[in-house]
Amino acid sequence: MLFPVVLSGGSGTRLWPMSRAALPKQFLPLVTSFTMFQETVLRLSGLPDLASPIVVCNADHRFLASEQLRKIDVVPSSLLLEPMGKNTAPAVAIAAFSALAKDADAMLLVLPADHLVENVPAFHQAIEQAVRLAERGGLVTFGIQPDAPATGFGYIEKGTPVAGEEGSYAVARFVEKPSAEIAESFLATGNYCWNSGMFVFKAAVYLEELKRHRPEMHLACEQAVKQASSDLDFCRIDEVAFAACPSDSIDYAVMEHTKQALMVSVDIGWSDVGSWEALADAVESGEDGNVKRGDVFAPETKNTYIRAESRMVVAMGLEDMVIVETADAVLVAHKDHSQNVKQAVEYLKQAE
Ligand code: GDD
Ligand code: MG
Repeated sequence: MLFPVVLSGGSGTRLWPMSRAALPKQFLPLVTSFTMFQETVLRLSGLPDLASPIVVCNADHRFLASEQLRKIDVVPSSLLLEPMGKNTAPAVAIAAFSALAKDADAMLLVLPADHLVENVPAFHQAIEQAVRLAERGGLVTFGIQPDAPATGFGYIEKGTPVAGEEGSYAVARFVEKPSAEIAESFLATGNYCWNSGMFVFKAAVYLEELKRHRPEMHLACEQAVKQASSDLDFCRIDEVAFAACPSDSIDYAVMEHTKQALMVSVDIGWSDVGSWEALADAVESGEDGNVKRGDVFAPETKNTYIRAESRMVVAMGLEDMVIVETADAVLVAHKDHSQNVKQAVEYLKQAE
């Protein structure tokens, strides 16, 4: 069976002030009337041999996750609660241990809970292809054609094509979040894709690779799942064992090192809604390039994202801006700076 693993433990600080510690972006309806977490689950409907999702989130968000699943009539295979965030490599490891307990041959489809995919039929085809490659023991990633030397993504160098599987390649090299100069040199070769952050592999294969490259992480996660306790419909990962686990992303801990990585290159209208600018680009805008949400009046304003949550917002004579109004905080930023919004969250933390 194919178990979707929905990673929903991130804090989404670059989408402040909508995204907050108590209500991070994946649990917000930022694009449609469903939240990004719900969209992630709904978008899988129709895939063959699909198990219910395994959701991995922070214990603080357990009721948000369970309530949002209930609203879309989804009963998860498990809802794993992390006592603290240890990044994605441990999150995937606890999901893998949990899936193996249900099915010794479990295949995982790892999905960040905060991405957009426009072409769902093409996405499903790519997943089916990735499952075929993962059956042979691959750790499969989905490669996105890059259009800028972004530094917030992993880069995958295409290696030898996989025979009989069009658009699939061995991964010659995986580099997580390179510097701007290196990203530019990768783009110039035309032989690199962005890592989408979604993966398909057998649970057992991931755990073998984790054990090979990060044995201490594998051990801590194994213990944390063994000593987990159930609480209502939740599975609480053991706090003491998990606290001892090092923190790292799947990209640095496994994907940069494994020799079993394969890539399916995809054109699925993917975007990582990592900033207000990315969100503005990902949704339909009006003729003037503006995106307006809520009670907004914006004459002589172009290419600007304006969101009014609790009061009316008037913007005049602006271009390339982001304005996000909420009851207790307002963001006004140039789109070029929208990647830096997390500074506001750091500032607030210091002021606490
Ligand atoms: N459960 C859980 N626990 N989930 C987590 C944790 C954690 O500790 N940390 C992050 N996540 C979730 C986030 O909510 C998000 O859905 C996903 O895991 C990926 O984490 P990010 O923190 O958003 O990763 P990133 O964007 O910096 O980088 C990854 O995604 C890029 C594409 O969007 C990498 O895989 C890059 O290589 C990739 O290009
Ligand atoms: Mg991300």
